[in-house]
Amino acid sequence: MVIEVEHPSVGLSKIAVSETHGEDSPYFAGWKAYDEDPYDESNNPSGVIQMGLAENQVSFDLLEEYWVKHSKETSWGSRTSGFRENALFQDYHGLKSFRKAMASFMEQIRGGRAKFNPERIVLTAGATAANELLTFILADPGDALLVPTPYYPGFDRDLRWRTGVKIVPVHCDSTNNFQVTPQALEEAYNNAEAMNIKVRGVLITNPSNPLGATIQRSVLEDILDFVTLKNIHLVSDEIYSGSAFLSSEFVSIAEVLESRNNRESERVHIVYSLSKDLGLPGFRVGTIYSYNDKVVTTARRMSSFTLISSQTQQLLASMLSDKKFTENYIKTNRERLTKRYQTIIDGLRNAGIECLRGNAGLFCWMNLSSLLEKPTRDCELALWNSILQEVKLNISPGSSCHCSEPGWFRVCFANMSEKTLEVALKRIHDFMEQ
Ligand SMILES: Cc1ncc(COP(=O)(O)O)c(C=O)c1O
Repeated sequence: MVIEVEHPSVGLSKIAVSETHGEDSPYFAGWKAYDEDPYDESNNPSGVIQMGLAENQVSFDLLEEYWVKHSKETSWGSRTSGFRENALFQDYHGLKSFRKAMASFMEQIRGGRAKFNPERIVLTAGATAANELLTFILADPGDALLVPTPYYPGFDRDLRWRTGVKIVPVHCDSTNNFQVTPQALEEAYNNAEAMNIKVRGVLITNPSNPLGATIQRSVLEDILDFVTLKNIHLVSDEIYSGSAFLSSEFVSIAEVLESRNNRESERVHIVYSLSKDLGLPGFRVGTIYSYNDKVVTTARRMSSFTLISSQTQQLLASMLSDKKFTENYIKTNRERLTKRYQTIIDGLRNAGIECLRGNAGLFCWMNLSSLLEKPTRDCELALWNSILQEVKLNISPGSSCHCSEPGWFRVCFANMSEKTLEVALKRIHDFMEQ
């Protein structure tokens, strides 16, 4: 007879069993619901439409056209294609040609109003890695970053999970269109101090995610004054910068620094990636641009854990160096996003729904507070659930973005065809009529 001995399950690290990855949020539950029953015009017309994923698919044709035209340069067939050099290359500085191309693309997106030095560009596998890496460098476990709400739900994972750093929310609300104020920053800072938590920096997203709106210059000035006063860092996640419908409405923190003769620049770090502007999240291309020499050196060392493959760097270096292509891409992509935005805003208005005025990004910030039985998080989640289950739309509830005002939802409009967007708008219209 075999005697079965019960073994206690084998232990794992604190990080492995921690819940701080935040994947139990409705933000990710909505993705799962979509994966289980995805909408397809012919095969599953009553399936879930994914409006919770900030992907940009509106300009894929331009990228595909470019690759077809330049297929010879980018194929690995010949000795001259650089195959051997690329196969062996693993320097964490990255390809010089790629860092140069990234710096110049980042300048182009800002309408030439800011300058970027390729030597200060650190390459990372997407903004996810860039944000985590910066958090590792700027803060110790138990310290905090102040992050204005509503914020990208992934920050809970990227800034907290493996670093042990905390996020202290800076609560913003609709009374001033969710703009950050010095009072809100001060309040969050004092909250952290009251809990004996050391604040190491402020992390903003500009254009402001998930609002789909840029941060005004005067607000950036206030934030910079605040971090200077408190002697802490400022991280500006600018991964949606190329999606500002009008370039002139987007002000990078780099421009503000330049207007101050780069005083206080050593505390400022910019994060950028090609996931949103070029719609290439699968390529995993991100950067940290820091004005602080020590941060640049440390980030480069740490980037060993999260490099971009040299093949991807070579492929994109040639495309981003092609000024004629990038100019046309940026312009056309902006026009298409603006048109999409207008379509969704008009469609929602026809259904009796208002959104925050947006001028950037791949989503709108929709106000359904009038549909809540009571202004609570529970009622917001109940509404979100019925929109997911009955209307079959996955949108992101504001509470998953830590918004303190119930009834707001982030709705993506650039990750689907125009036709699918029309279907989604029709479903919302019918729901509102009921
Ligand atoms: C504000 C923000 N930062 C970072 C990321 C992650 O981007 P990446 O794909 O470059 O890692 C996202 C993705 O949605 C985002 O919205």
